[in-house]
Amino acid sequence: MALDSFDSAVDGLLAEARASLQSVDSLEALEAFRIQFTGAKNGALKSLQKLLGAVPPEHKPAAGKRFNQAREAIDQLLTEATDKVSQASSGKPKSSTGPLVDPTLPGLRPRIGVLHPITQTLEHLKEIMGRLGFNVTEGPEIEDEWHNFVALNIPEDHPARDPLDNFYLATAKTNLPKSSTDPQPAGNSGGADIAARLLRSQTSTVQIRVMESTPLPLRIISLGRVYRPDAPDATHFPMFHQMEGLWVDKNVTMAQLKSVLRLFATSYLGGDVNVRFRPSFFPFTEPSVEVDYWWNGQWIEFGGAGMVDPNVFRAVGIDPEQWSGFAFGLGVERLCMRRFGITDIRDLYRSDVRFLRQFAS
Ligand code: FA5
Repeated sequence: MALDSFDSAVDGLLAEARASLQSVDSLEALEAFRIQFTGAKNGALKSLQKLLGAVPPEHKPAAGKRFNQAREAIDQLLTEATDKVSQASSGKPKSSTGPLVDPTLPGLRPRIGVLHPITQTLEHLKEIMGRLGFNVTEGPEIEDEWHNFVALNIPEDHPARDPLDNFYLATAKTNLPKSSTDPQPAGNSGGADIAARLLRSQTSTVQIRVMESTPLPLRIISLGRVYRPDAPDATHFPMFHQMEGLWVDKNVTMAQLKSVLRLFATSYLGGDVNVRFRPSFFPFTEPSVEVDYWWNGQWIEFGGAGMVDPNVFRAVGIDPEQWSGFAFGLGVERLCMRRFGITDIRDLYRSDVRFLRQFAS
């Protein structure tokens, strides 16, 4: 093919493209325009490329240059056609060089989660107790009877060990290998190789684990989930959290226990909180107290406390003549509820995001 003929074909193609552009006014027309001129199989540019193959070799460089110019021109026409259609569909004029999106429009706000109020409370309690010199430690949620009861001076016939008051695991009466770190329970239920397991019913288990493994003196807290088959109501739930505290040293006194709990309550709940200590009984402390605070016109119990019972010290090999200590266990949900003004513990565990989002920290 002569170079002149090829040039005429290029001119004809461009004229046709410009004319077609006039009628492009919809997405469908735009797509038809694209296929007609740049379609990979039968597009006009493809046909022009075939003609290029028939140009004599000495004219190939000039013809190739024209072909490239034609391709760029068609690309430019396609861009203009796209702009025209998007202007028509948004109803707004756009600059031909400007972006197709309007950066002045408000963006889509990403949904950012918030920490669950209980998680916030756990962190806050750790921070307050950290300032009072208590180190954070953890213990397992699946426990054996030694740590949940026996070492805590809770005898076999104590009602707290009733299977109906605990979540014993189905493995409870199978022969489980005992962990090498677990001490062999003296007088545990029915034989050395029977290791009943249960979901811990209190964080006091961690007192035992810590005293078994930590040199004295010690001052720790442990926060975590505990489980009891309590019927749910406004202040009870079958799974809840406790904060355990333990201070063992020479000459630790009940006065120190009361000071620590009062300081804690005023730091967490505010200076105006009324705290009350009532005489009580726990097998693992002597003397023992219940700790209440005044809320919504009534006293609410938020924990138990007392001086570590000598039998507990003996169970873990600590001499009660030399060492003394206090321990406490507080209900985290009840503290959280008071601070956030939540009146029903069940609201914390309904997983209703609309409720939980209110407590963004
Ligand atoms: C205990 O669990 C003792 N281990 C506390 C303790 C530790 C005493 C160290 C002495 C020394 P109690 O069963 O009272 O005690 O529970 C402590 C707190 O957990 C209660 O005061 C209450 O705030 C909270 N609590 C108890 N049962 C529930 C429940 N079902 N739902 C929510 N909170 C609960």
